[in-house]
Amino acid sequence: MNNFVFRNPTKLIFGKGTIACLADEIPAGCKLMVTFGGGSVKKNGVYEQVTAALKGRDYIEFWGIEPNPKIETLRKAVEQCRRWGVDFLLAVGGGSVLDGTKLIAAAVKYHGDAWDLVRNNALIGEILPFGDVMTLPATASEMNRNAVISSIETKEKFGMKVDYPRFSILDPQTTFSLPRYQRAAGMADTFIHVMEQYMTVTGESPLMDRWSEGILQTLVEIAPSVLEHADDYDSMANYMLCATMGLNGFIAMGVTEDWATHQIGHELTAINGLTHGHTLAIVFPGLLKVLRDQKMGKILQYGERVWGIHDGTPEERAARTIDATENFFRSLGLQTRLHEVGIGEDTILEIERRFNERGVAFGEGHNVNGTVARQILEAVK
Ligand code: NZQ
Ligand code: ZN
Repeated sequence: MNNFVFRNPTKLIFGKGTIACLADEIPAGCKLMVTFGGGSVKKNGVYEQVTAALKGRDYIEFWGIEPNPKIETLRKAVEQCRRWGVDFLLAVGGGSVLDGTKLIAAAVKYHGDAWDLVRNNALIGEILPFGDVMTLPATASEMNRNAVISSIETKEKFGMKVDYPRFSILDPQTTFSLPRYQRAAGMADTFIHVMEQYMTVTGESPLMDRWSEGILQTLVEIAPSVLEHADDYDSMANYMLCATMGLNGFIAMGVTEDWATHQIGHELTAINGLTHGHTLAIVFPGLLKVLRDQKMGKILQYGERVWGIHDGTPEERAARTIDATENFFRSLGLQTRLHEVGIGEDTILEIERRFNERGVAFGEGHNVNGTVARQILEAVK
């Protein structure tokens, strides 16, 4: 097991009717900005619950943080925060609204351009405190310090580290209105978050392995219900908790991480606009094929414990395990090949070019460079 430091200060408030707790969590007398996405919260009753909980408070609203939050939009929010002297932020929506709000929180006191912070996290100084009402289980942004920010102008998308929410309110009932595609993409995202922390080297921590496998098995078990019965409280509650636990540090203690699938997926979104979780469902089976030998021990363990694949040579078992993984994503209704989503050779070559130009090499083996990224994408054309 590797050395590690663990700290997660987010207060998680989970369950039915918990939006009403907002009143207790937001400091009295603060100058509050509430941030939203495109309006889903007005159709599912979340907006009414938030405004009821904030009755009598001094706050302004900022609307229009889009999926894959754009720096061009966030700069406008930063300006408004400065003009109104905002000193606390509340994000209400999915991971994009919360990630965008994290960037706003970091940029208000920064004197340069907000994009500088995305490209160089070391420039982040004072960060405004923030909390959230999370309505889409997927990113775990509600309990981590990550934000992933895009630029329309440069067609780029990068992850950054900001800070943890002070509190996160998760009422699974808010997820009942999620479109089927968002539920599928969200489950794929959660599945791959676990994989990025699990599908590396064997034997580092049997405890982390079992926790990761527990999340994967739970997702496989509840997926049919989450897809078919979006208003089944217990299914959605378990899905929501899987998503939070998948990327809040609890399964990462002392183990080696990967994250190459995410880095390639971010490029697919930046260039083609494909939804985040869907990019991962395409890239990951390709990554397993190309890096099969490097990851063989973990592939066999995962195949045995999650999919019950015991028989055959290691090569046969690995092949069946990779097929089972791809079939799981297809069972969610997600296409798993690039041509099925209209992505072709030009994108593959552009990603290879970008990785080479940046001189990056991702993954636990530090070997997913431009060439290997191209091989991974060619494997799932
Ligand atoms: O904008 P509104 O109208 O609210 O609609 C959203 C959006 O169109 C809608 N939605 C959200 N909650 C809903 C709902 N519709 C109906 N009912 C509800 N309860 O869903 C659409 C997608 O929302 P979005 O926030 O974009 O999805 P998600 O939560 O999957 O976030 C994706 C973003 O998070 C980043 C991704 O790269 C992407 O930019 N990630 C953030 C991470 C983190 N902070 O740790 C880690 C992840 O790996 C990921 O990279
Ligand atoms: Zn993700």
